Amino acid sequence: MWDPSTYLRYGDERSRPFHDLLARVGAERPRAVIDLGCGPGTLTATLAGRWPGSRITGLDSSPEMIARAAALDVPVTFGVRDVRDWRPAPDVDVLVGNAVLQWVPEHSDLLAHWATELPAGAWLAFQVPGNFAAPSHLALHEVAGRGRWREPLAGLLRAAPVDEPVGYAALLTGAGCAVDAWETTYVHLLPAAGADHPVLAWMEGTALRPVRAALDAAGWADFRAELGVALAEAYPVRQGQVYFPFRRIFVVARTGAHAEENS
Ligand SMILES: C[S@@+](CC[C@H](N)C(=O)[O-])C[C@H]1O[C@@H](n2cnc3c(N)ncnc32)[C@H](O)[C@@H]1O
Repeated sequence: MWDPSTYLRYGDERSRPFHDLLARVGAERPRAVIDLGCGPGTLTATLAGRWPGSRITGLDSSPEMIARAAALDVPVTFGVRDVRDWRPAPDVDVLVGNAVLQWVPEHSDLLAHWATELPAGAWLAFQVPGNFAAPSHLALHEVAGRGRWREPLAGLLRAAPVDEPVGYAALLTGAGCAVDAWETTYVHLLPAAGADHPVLAWMEGTALRPVRAALDAAGWADFRAELGVALAEAYPVRQGQVYFPFRRIFVVARTGAHAEENS
């Protein structure tokens, strides 16, 4: 289950990649814009501001996230939908997926389908974390591999659920798109003010959700205490804050590029 309030804890840091992604989308008057895995809808709302004449839709598989989004007073239609069941309508000129496809193991197949199903000239833009070898994830895997946690958490943590930028670029170029792919490492400066280590608080909003769901309350309290110790070693507090580098992968693809070139 996704908790919108926990996810929004670091809203500023989490929103920046969305804006960096959208800055490379050149659509002027798209007919329909879809935000897949829209979460609490705050970022989807900015799309309505950018394209006031367009039909904007935010879809997410979490009813909790969609309930939160639907409470926003914005000109966006929100709905519960799994990205795996979604197919583009013929008027979808912009498709956005920010920080969602890492949760969908078969997303490369979906991307290849969407690239050919979207109308020619449409924009397909997504961002995924590229930090699965970062100290935060190594600490998570190390703690999860300890005796007591091995069985309840078996199979829960994904090793590398995303591709590299070149892999996505090759995939979408092969599907006829003009591709712009890049990566950025943001160094988030997280204040170390509360009782919890700030990277633990960050991870609770995303990567730790499956762990929390698999453990009872006492187990979860013990697990997060152990992980907190490991994270404090990996990310020491300096000047009252923690320096948390976070790599992200970005792809913006324009469909039908080859068809247009040859026409
Ligand atoms: C990290 S949040 C990103 C939310 C939003 N895009 C943002 O940038 O703030 C990931 C979102 O993906 C959604 N999600 C995960 N798997 C999904 C799936 N298979 N179909 C649709 N949404 C999914 C989750 O419910 C969650 O709201």
